[in-house]
This record gives sequence, structure tokens and C-alpha cells, in this order.
Amino acid sequence: MTKLFNKLPNHIAFIMDGNGRWAKRRGMPRNYGHKEGVNAIERTIDACIKFGIKYCTFFAFSTENWKRSKEEIEGIFELLRDYISKNDNIFLSKEVKLNHIGILDPFPDDLKSSLVNMEKQTKNFEKLTVTFALNYGGRDEIIRAINNLLEKGEKSITEKEFLTKLDTNGLPEPDFVIRTSGEQRVSNFMLYQMAYSEFYFPKICWPSFNEHHFVKALKVFSKRKRRYGGVS
Ligand code: IPE
Ligand code: IPE
Ligand code: MG
Repeated sequence: MTKLFNKLPNHIAFIMDGNGRWAKRRGMPRNYGHKEGVNAIERTIDACIKFGIKYCTFFAFSTENWKRSKEEIEGIFELLRDYISKNDNIFLSKEVKLNHIGILDPFPDDLKSSLVNMEKQTKNFEKLTVTFALNYGGRDEIIRAINNLLEKGEKSITEKEFLTKLDTNGLPEPDFVIRTSGEQRVSNFMLYQMAYSEFYFPKICWPSFNEHHFVKALKVFSKRKRRYGGVS
């Protein structure tokens, strides 16, 4: 399967955007878009397994998304909790390691406990690591890391030490960032980690994202020439 591409990303980060617009175009409430967005997550995890991707991250709720209506926010929490806690979930059935970045404190207890519980149950799986960014903001993550170092009395640190203080400690940097819906911005996602990521902005809204779009994205990535400041 992997022979289809001359190179594959090790870590794909998804900025899942366009759920609301997708629903609106169908005359449906925004939360219907989020519901279908969960199915797109499931399809994408399946595709990652199929094509041998080792890490994928989904931006599910940003530190700025608290600006949305209570109804929308609670709807998102309920969908996430149901998705993570269902008995036949993909993490257990396909041996996928579940992980999160961001601060869980403000989330409802049932969501937090299903997430933490599933992380514990899947912690030894190695095929694919799926990370959900929840109440996550790149700026917040960097400031928390700095405060942590200040509390320890550090006067000077290296980039390597700084990385260990980020929520993504232990995860490789994303090689490939895919933002759906046609918007071309990072919206406070993985600011530090994206220094050398490749970006791709398909027009499709997240609830419609499927294996066909995934394969197209992998083809785009395989043609990119990464130079990291050097010369090819
Ligand atoms: C992305 O879709 C999902 C979240 C941010 C939780 P949006 O809800 O932002 O959809 P649009 O951008 O309004 O269409
Ligand atoms: C980014 O999408 C956050 C997530 C995908 C969770 P937004 O829809 O919140 O971003 P903006 O507001 O359009 O920049
Ligand atoms: Mg949006």
C-alpha cells in the first residue's frame, strides 16, 4: 500500500474545519455538522491505519472555541464523550493509542473520565497514536511551559528541554497539517511544533472528508520538497 507514495508523513495534524458551514448548507443545525464530523474522524483513523501513518492529531476544541454558544459547546462535549466511551470503539478494536493535548480541567467529569480511562486502556498500543487537541491553544501551551520552567527556577534552557515541557512531549512534530474547508490559517494550533510542517488546505468541509481526499492529500505531500533551510 505504502508503495503508492514515494514518501509518507509520519505525523498528520488535522484542523477539522467547516462543520458548521457544512450543516448550514444542508439547512441543519451546526451540531449536525459536528455529529457528521465524528464519522469523518473515524474514517480518517481507518485511513491512517490502512496507509501506515504512525501519528495523527485532531484539533477538536480550541482555547478560543469557548466563545461559542453553550448549546454548541455542550453538543460537542456529548459527541466526544459518546465517541470515546462506546463499547465497540475504534481505539480498542483496532489497537489505536489514544492521547490528548490541552487542559482538560474545564470539561465535564464524564468526558474527562472516559478519555483518561481510554488512554489508560490503550497506552501500550503502538500501531497508530491518535491525539485529540482539547481546550488546546498553541500560545497557552507555550506560556504554561514557560511558567513551569520559571517555577523550577530555570535561568536558561535548550530547545530540547523546552520541548519536554510542551503537551506534545513524546510526539514527533507534525510533518503535514491539513486544514479543511478552504480556510488558510493555523488558528492557534501547534505554533511551536509547526516550524517545518507542510500545509495543505483542501476546500472540502470536514464532515465530507473521506479516504479519497486523504489519498489526494498523501499524493500532495509525497511531491513536496522539504529543505529545512538547506539546499536540495
Ligand atoms: C470545526 O468546524 C469544528 C470545531 C471548531 C469544533 P466549525 O464549527 O468551525 O465550522 P465552521 O467553520 O463554522 O463552518
Ligand atoms: C479551529 O477552527 C479550531 C478547531 C478546528 C477546533 P475555528 O473554526 O475555531 O477557527 P477560526 O475561528 O475560523 O479561526
Ligand atoms: Mg470553523
